[in-house]
Amino acid sequence: MNILAIETSCDETAAAVSQDGRKILSDVVYSQADMHALYGGVVPEIASRKHIEKISLVADQALAQSGLKRREIDAVAATCAPGLIGALLVGANFAKACAQALGKPFIPVHHIRGHIAANYVAFPQLEPPFVALVASGGHTILADVEDYTKIELLGTTRDDAAGEAFDKIARTLGLPYPGGAAMDRLARQGDPEVYPLPMAKLSGSPLDFSFSGLKTAAVNLIHNAGQKGREIQTQHLAAAVCRAVAQAVVPKAMEAARQRGRRVMAAAGGVAANSVLRAMLERECKKQGVALYLPPLSLCGDNGSMIACQAYYEYLAGNVAGLEQNCYATMPVSERV
Ligand code: KG4
Ligand code: ZN
Repeated sequence: MNILAIETSCDETAAAVSQDGRKILSDVVYSQADMHALYGGVVPEIASRKHIEKISLVADQALAQSGLKRREIDAVAATCAPGLIGALLVGANFAKACAQALGKPFIPVHHIRGHIAANYVAFPQLEPPFVALVASGGHTILADVEDYTKIELLGTTRDDAAGEAFDKIARTLGLPYPGGAAMDRLARQGDPEVYPLPMAKLSGSPLDFSFSGLKTAAVNLIHNAGQKGREIQTQHLAAAVCRAVAQAVVPKAMEAARQRGRRVMAAAGGVAANSVLRAMLERECKKQGVALYLPPLSLCGDNGSMIACQAYYEYLAGNVAGLEQNCYATMPVSERV
């Protein structure tokens, strides 16, 4: 089964074609990051407009690279939640129109389920059940993936996502948007002990996260240094932030696996590209005998392949929709879109 999938939930206009789920025939991503970098973050209205400009081209390229004819596409999918609502609507409406024109089913896909599915693309042998850690610009969640479309939320952030904290701290340091990858690179030359940062303590739900305290502490540290005319050693602060995020996330991910009795864990999302987080996950999983799946960096950020892959499993579960399908800015990962 060949699926053309569209992803426009944030600032990447992406399209891909999958065959029977995991085989990716083409993958095209147009990143708007340069444009948003001028403003220090994603400007939703600009994102929507850019998606409109690029979507036909990106989808045409994905189709051309797949080597398939239009009539060989069996279904069209799109991310319908969660994300920037205006941005989502561009991709979803484009995909619905394609489905209608081709006379093929339309498959709405949950963006976070897509991130998890990046692991199916990267690792042909991986099958549920497993525990998933998804850390991106908008989300930080732990989920129990019982089956491809049966996913239970175990923990989420109470405030900011890990990526949001990375981006805000990076911006305060004067690094270009999106700052997570730049912080990661800087951290390699840094000493995480130089700037002590707080760890959030959450009562109640032990698998929830909070990153706003870390974000504020780092931002204040930068501002205070500026007011006193002192220079921040960015590499040391970057190292401290990377370590703080990893220390906030990894023990909870291990605890989630323990609670669920899972011996397999998969990470996903843009922040899963972070080398400090990856190294700590690898170390802890090895120690505790948990098999760890870490997708390659190209599949951590937003892309069409992950949506095209998850769409196949949604289709098998009967999750297809008509033209009335709407988009939603927020939606729990446990719900079908
Ligand atoms: O999954 P993603 O591409 O988009 C969303 O769905 O949000 O994640 C983007 C986020 C941004 O906050 C970006 O700064 C962060 O992932 N990111 C990183 C790294 N690469 C991207 N954060 C830390 N370390 C990295 N290497
Ligand atoms: Zn994403």
